[in-house]
Amino acid sequence: MGLLITGGAGYIGSHTCVELLNAGYHIVIVDNFSNSKPESLNRIRRITGKDFTFYNVDLLDKDGLESIFYENEIEAVMHFAGLKSVGESVALPLRYYLNNITGTLNLCEVMKEHGVKQLVFSSSATVYGNPDSVPIDEGFTLGATNPYGRTKQMIEEILSDLFHSDNEWSIALLRYFNPIGAHKSGLIGEDPNGIPNNLMPFISQVAVGKRYELNVFGDNYPSRDGTGVRDYIHVVDLAIGHIKALKKVLETKGVDAYNLGTGIGYSVLEMIKNFEKVSGRKIPCKIVDPRPGDIGICYANPVKAKEELGWIAYRGIEEMCEDTWRWQINNPNGYEEHANLTITNNNIIQEV
Ligand code: NAD
Ligand code: WQD
Repeated sequence: MGLLITGGAGYIGSHTCVELLNAGYHIVIVDNFSNSKPESLNRIRRITGKDFTFYNVDLLDKDGLESIFYENEIEAVMHFAGLKSVGESVALPLRYYLNNITGTLNLCEVMKEHGVKQLVFSSSATVYGNPDSVPIDEGFTLGATNPYGRTKQMIEEILSDLFHSDNEWSIALLRYFNPIGAHKSGLIGEDPNGIPNNLMPFISQVAVGKRYELNVFGDNYPSRDGTGVRDYIHVVDLAIGHIKALKKVLETKGVDAYNLGTGIGYSVLEMIKNFEKVSGRKIPCKIVDPRPGDIGICYANPVKAKEELGWIAYRGIEEMCEDTWRWQINNPNGYEEHANLTITNNNIIQEV
């Protein structure tokens, strides 16, 4: 019996595959590398010393998906595959609706045909939109404010309808807050294409000298220092949350949403300070206008995941920054060849 991991070559998927392999699960990965590199799969093998079957298949290719289910005995699916850039989704909504929603519909149809009804789905705190208060709990009204977020909200609704049409399904909707950090080995981590949209990869690229300075989007929010507050969660804690959710969907039927966050919020300036401390590098920054569509303060109430999945996030902010930094310094160009750069033993990047 195996688990199918869609999007397993990506940032969160690759970390989850490592935890699953280490825990002894047999996994099959499907990814089309639209936002990842084959090298991440080599790194998963290197960290775990274990192998797995991989399919370079697009979820939009239903026949390709079918063959995966014919060729493997799949018991449950973790579904990470999706496009995730908020800004890009505003510019290219059709691409997002097609990829994320049609991809999920194809997956569910093929699962249904093969009698596989256990699913762990990557949702997002973005489904809450601009919350009335914090901490946010799962009962809050949903109101995604951009096409990417709406794909997540719509998929949650589709999966709820699916369960209500057939109570044999068992589905966990995992609403991640802000995943950061990397595996302790420094071999896998977040590898954004082009200019990073998210705070942590941007900070670490400034620290490593790839970018000149960080723009801090707004300092007039109702937070301790006026900058935006988020619930940053270590990607390995998140990965472990998936294993807990998997156990739940294998044991019970139903559809349930869970916040995966720490319950603690940090501001942009606090994140910069923490990163400067662990990296020993200065992060030049300047305050600019708020980013359109941004919310001020967002952090989770993670109690439901604790009570029903037996999961909490253990890793603190310093560890999140240290692990991000190790990944960044060891892989200044992400999974690309290190090109003409080398890292000396005192952590200085030099051209060769
Ligand atoms: P990622 O882009 O690193 O990983 C997603 C993977 O899915 C990539 O490897 C990509 O190539 C693959 N993929 C995309 N469309 C595909 C398709 N049609 N067929 C096959 N493979 C496809 O993103 P991530 O950060 O690892 O996020 C994983 C999931 O979690 C996504 O669904 C994302 O929306 C969700 N999520 C991410 C965050 C975050 O901040 N990283 C927060 C909340 C939710
Ligand atoms: C964090 C804070 C910014 C960049 C996004 C998606 C969300 C989810 C996670 C997938 C905010 C500030 C950022 C920068 C800054 N992804 N910031 N300068 O916006 O909470 O969430 O990623 O589901 O859907 O919207 O994360 O990392 O972009 O921003 O000042 O260059 O950092 O304003 O306060 P966000 P983020």
